[in-house]
Amino acid sequence: MKITYLGHASLQIEVGNKTIIVDPFITGNELAKSIDINSLKADYILVTHAHQDHILDVETIVKNTRATIVSNYEIVMHYGTMDLKGHPMNHGGSWQFDFGRVTYTNAVHTSSFPDGKYGGQPGGFIIESSEGNIYIAGDTALTMDMKLIPMQCKLDLVILPIGDNFTMGIESAVIAANFVDCDKILGYHYDTFGYIEIDHDKAIDKFKEAGKELNLLKIGNSIEI
Ligand code: NI
Ligand code: MN
Repeated sequence: MKITYLGHASLQIEVGNKTIIVDPFITGNELAKSIDINSLKADYILVTHAHQDHILDVETIVKNTRATIVSNYEIVMHYGTMDLKGHPMNHGGSWQFDFGRVTYTNAVHTSSFPDGKYGGQPGGFIIESSEGNIYIAGDTALTMDMKLIPMQCKLDLVILPIGDNFTMGIESAVIAANFVDCDKILGYHYDTFGYIEIDHDKAIDKFKEAGKELNLLKIGNSIEI
């Protein structure tokens, strides 16, 4: 499994000969100018919640690629009214896709569309595949629910928000990595705007002190598991 960082909370995941885009917010991100959304491939788009900084480029990418949107019921219905196809899920449910098994997990956050319309409850995703298992937390606070994940799945990588203010910060993310029983972390949801700028070295050291490896990728770079 290859995971490419597209900036903010946007990821491209290549697994089982399929390409998955997560929470595309690229054209609105000054830091992600090097990414050309019109050249992105996608079979699926996973959307954690309805906030603008997670959905901005969903329509464009779906129109370019005919990808299937996987998200909560309300978000999939919203795109359904635009004739964009989707697979609705809700918290705690899993589905076997052609690249692996996806579970929509709990997240403690909010989820409204930019116009204020209800976007369902926010979530995250677990992807279990023959190439490894990952948990994408989405925008969330540290929550005890994370302790349930290692009871059901041995993770190879956890992707955690670390920017603070709107989500967990670094101290909470270290605890979250312990809760999900995973030593390899990819940080996301940081540096995009003023409220969430972080000191990279300090963040990496905090995880190191806890015996964990925090990866902070340059936009466009990848990590493999
Ligand atoms: Ni959000
Ligand atoms: Mn966000």
